[in-house]
Amino acid sequence: MTQNDVKAEQELAAIRALLIDAYGIEGDVSPLPGEHDLNYRVRTQDGEQYLLKLHAPGDANDLGMQVAVLDHLAKTASDLPVSRPVPGRERASTVKVTVRGERTARLLTWLPGDIWAKAASRTPASAETLGDLLGRLDRSLEGFSHAGTKRVYAWDIGRADMHHDHVDLIDGVDKRAAVRAILERFASSVLPSLETCPRQVIHNDANDYNVLLDGEGRVSGLLDFGDMVETWRVVEIAVAAAYALIGARDAVGTIAALAGAYHRVNPISATEADLIFDLVRTRYAVSMCMAAKQIRDNPENTYLLVSQDDVWRELQRLESENRAIAVARIRDACGFAPIAHAASAVRWLEQNAHGFSAIVKPSVAKPQVAVFDFAASNPEATQWAAVDAALAETRIADHVRAQNADFGLGLYGEDRAIYRGDAYETATSDTRRSVHLGVDIFAGAGEPVHAPFAGKVAFLHDDTVAFGFGPTVLLEHATDTGNIFWTLYGHLSRETLSTLTIGQPIATGESFATFGRAEENGNWAPHLHFQLVTDHLGLGGRMFGVGVRDQWQVWREVSPDPSVVLGLSVPASVIVARDKDFLVRERHRRIGRSLSIAYSATPLKIVGGEGAHLIDEDGTRWLDMVNNVCHVGHCHPRVVKAAQAQMGRLNTNSRYLHDSLVEYSRRLAAQFPDPLNVCFFVNSGSEANDLALRLARAYTGNRDVITVNHAYHGHLSSMIDVSPYKFAGKGGEGRPAHVQVAEMPDLYRGRYRYGDADAGRKYAEDVRNQVLALAANDRLPAIFFSEGILGTGGQLTLPEGYLREAYAHVRAAGGLCLADEVQVGFGRVGSHIWAHETQDVVPDIVTMGKPIGNGHPMAAVVTTEAIAASFANGMEYFNTFGGNPVSAEIGLAVLDVIRDERLMHHCRVVGDRLMDGARTLAKRHAIIGDVRGYGLFNGIELVRDRNSMEPAATELDFVIAEMKRKHRILLSSEGPHHNVLKVKPPAPFSAEDCDYFLEALDDTLGRLTP
Ligand SMILES: Cc1ncc(COP(=O)(O)O)c(C=O)c1O
Repeated sequence: MTQNDVKAEQELAAIRALLIDAYGIEGDVSPLPGEHDLNYRVRTQDGEQYLLKLHAPGDANDLGMQVAVLDHLAKTASDLPVSRPVPGRERASTVKVTVRGERTARLLTWLPGDIWAKAASRTPASAETLGDLLGRLDRSLEGFSHAGTKRVYAWDIGRADMHHDHVDLIDGVDKRAAVRAILERFASSVLPSLETCPRQVIHNDANDYNVLLDGEGRVSGLLDFGDMVETWRVVEIAVAAAYALIGARDAVGTIAALAGAYHRVNPISATEADLIFDLVRTRYAVSMCMAAKQIRDNPENTYLLVSQDDVWRELQRLESENRAIAVARIRDACGFAPIAHAASAVRWLEQNAHGFSAIVKPSVAKPQVAVFDFAASNPEATQWAAVDAALAETRIADHVRAQNADFGLGLYGEDRAIYRGDAYETATSDTRRSVHLGVDIFAGAGEPVHAPFAGKVAFLHDDTVAFGFGPTVLLEHATDTGNIFWTLYGHLSRETLSTLTIGQPIATGESFATFGRAEENGNWAPHLHFQLVTDHLGLGGRMFGVGVRDQWQVWREVSPDPSVVLGLSVPASVIVARDKDFLVRERHRRIGRSLSIAYSATPLKIVGGEGAHLIDEDGTRWLDMVNNVCHVGHCHPRVVKAAQAQMGRLNTNSRYLHDSLVEYSRRLAAQFPDPLNVCFFVNSGSEANDLALRLARAYTGNRDVITVNHAYHGHLSSMIDVSPYKFAGKGGEGRPAHVQVAEMPDLYRGRYRYGDADAGRKYAEDVRNQVLALAANDRLPAIFFSEGILGTGGQLTLPEGYLREAYAHVRAAGGLCLADEVQVGFGRVGSHIWAHETQDVVPDIVTMGKPIGNGHPMAAVVTTEAIAASFANGMEYFNTFGGNPVSAEIGLAVLDVIRDERLMHHCRVVGDRLMDGARTLAKRHAIIGDVRGYGLFNGIELVRDRNSMEPAATELDFVIAEMKRKHRILLSSEGPHHNVLKVKPPAPFSAEDCDYFLEALDDTLGRLTP
């Protein structure tokens, strides 16, 4: 042992003694790095850990501030992952000690996790969770004040103006120039804006050594409140982002993710969002100034230089970003319009479009347009990319001529592979600009270009880069409210530039430019690139004509869809395909939150379908076992053809005479026995059931409804009322007074079970009880709602005789009986077309939906002439879309396919195979409590114990997740206990699909830990 070792050991012994003495804690002590203070990790025998800080003597205010903030947070934010003070024996937060001189000891709780700078687990969630933590922290700090925070602090970037004199200390001309420019911008435009923003105490140092991450890369703790200062709140985000982006793939994306997450829990203003990018750069500038100053003061400390490598590298990366795009991305992440005035420019265009002139060929009233597809996804795109300008010109001209068109059109929003070369790279290494921000109008060189509306010449540029814009003009325009925007014209003739001067006014319809030849226009087949520009990104005449797909929400605001200017007879734009994260985010923003997303943790983007399979954006096929809507198979060609053909002929309402509607009503009614002869056509199952309720009330003169427990009959208010699944579930308002709920006939876990031959009658007794309950109040039922197999009840088949007996009770009291076939109709049950037929009953009203149109929104009600007649009381039943010719043709095609492909029989054969197979699996997997259903409408109920029947809901969640993840099978759960595996695939689900499912289920159940 050296003398130093002995000394160190003595010191640790002294600290251990201090811990016992002052805190009553006995444990191992190991030193941690620290700049001024001595820091130690303390581990007790029972596994508790602490951080012991021995503060060097210094500014009492500074230590007081650190003590006070933790006391404050203990009261206001007990859930934040920050160190908590551990009081000493006398409940003191600090203890005086002598270790390498006089010091003040503080004991803090230990935070789990790895230091951000060293953690291997950094993910996009790291920046988000850091933003979230800081947002919550700053909310808690809003009311906090302490003398120590009211300092003029060189590390407060709100005071970056303090550093002007340090710039010259920086080594390197480039560095000095960059830092000087940032500090000048800070003084001229950042600070004036910052001064309008809220101020408060902030942590001010969420750097990569002060933030801890857990194994999944989520922030698990924030350390060190020693840099706190009272300054502008937004500085907090900028400081943290400056470190979070180090080494991140997408620097601005990281800043935006952090800012967006902060904003979600602690909303900032658009002004603050606009400042973040500049403040991050300012942080780098301040850091470089501080380092230069420290090196001047301590020239021997070369370590200071090393840490500056990251700073300069990252600052250069930020400097290569387009500032306007960076700001727009940060604004977007915080939910602000990326380009503040873009929407008003678009509104102005839409309101004034009627007065616009055509850009080319204004003498042609309704030009014919030949549309080209240059998208990378088009198989011919590679050919286009390979041809030279002359050949492209010939091909394009041939195509335009062949179509007898006035000009050709290349579309806005196309993601193209033709943009090669460095010019299309961005500051993010794997991200290129590839999406077309304008339209191409193909015509011959020399074709005149007319201004669509008045403006003045704002920028002229001759882009001589190969495959660039060539001669380019931007006209400036103003909306009524004075908002400025531009129209861009690229690939012009060189002569155009010589005839125009900056500021020259251009009138609506004025011919001010001509199309250039390939030799002068950037080497393209002659065409005009026309683009709207709400922000020229500081590029002026060098404005980009192509944007980044993954940032499309920003670029589409920079250059909105120019269709509004063109007013053509064909679409001039395409929808830009986006990734799943973006679609989820946008859905949350734009679509009501009560709509859930399947597999929300790993959602699917489905772009195609075929038979029983769905196809995602990567071309992966998923076996769809929950879609009874696309009953005859996804995108069945016969149905698609019928729809397309009728859509091309006529679609109108059902008040005109039409063969298809009459033929369809005949064919549909033929699926029922007498007296069910009259059809009504509506658009959804809910509407069908609502109409049925009105029919019953009209016919019986009664208002009350009897429904089966746990049932769902639709989303209209009238149907929520008769759906215990909704009114008794989350957010429900309970059973309405006009509704009686009958016991659910559950042969598996109900009062009367499999083997009880009389169960049907016994369960139906409760329907009678409901009739009696009504009678006790001098009321009578209007209608009894029931499905032929109970869907939301848990895919339950009904006990023999149930509906027969129930119907008898209801009818005896003058009520009608409805069979809701919305889920189960059209042959799915295998033995019959309708599920209620398995109960050997004839209802008074049958409602149909989902499978009726194979995904097309249509539904129907079938009833008796007498009931329909009672409803024709003078008030017309008009339904705008119900029974339109397109729906009628689709409905007919569905009936044809069911008949011609023998789908009912197929459902029976494959359904039996599935249930036999599942019952065989039940011999090996005790978790399978029950297998039930008819045809391809089945339930497999999972229980933890066959005797207690404890529902195995979490196990089912695992099964569903694994069937998707490992086997690409889509399933869902059902039933009051969420423990029934629901099976209802499109009818083309084959014997092979069935065997694949059974094998996958066997494998998945085998992997459930008992
Ligand atoms: C049995 C039943 N009836 C009615 C409906 C309502 O149909 P829609 O969603 O078409 O309005 C549903 C929908 O799930 C249903 O399952």
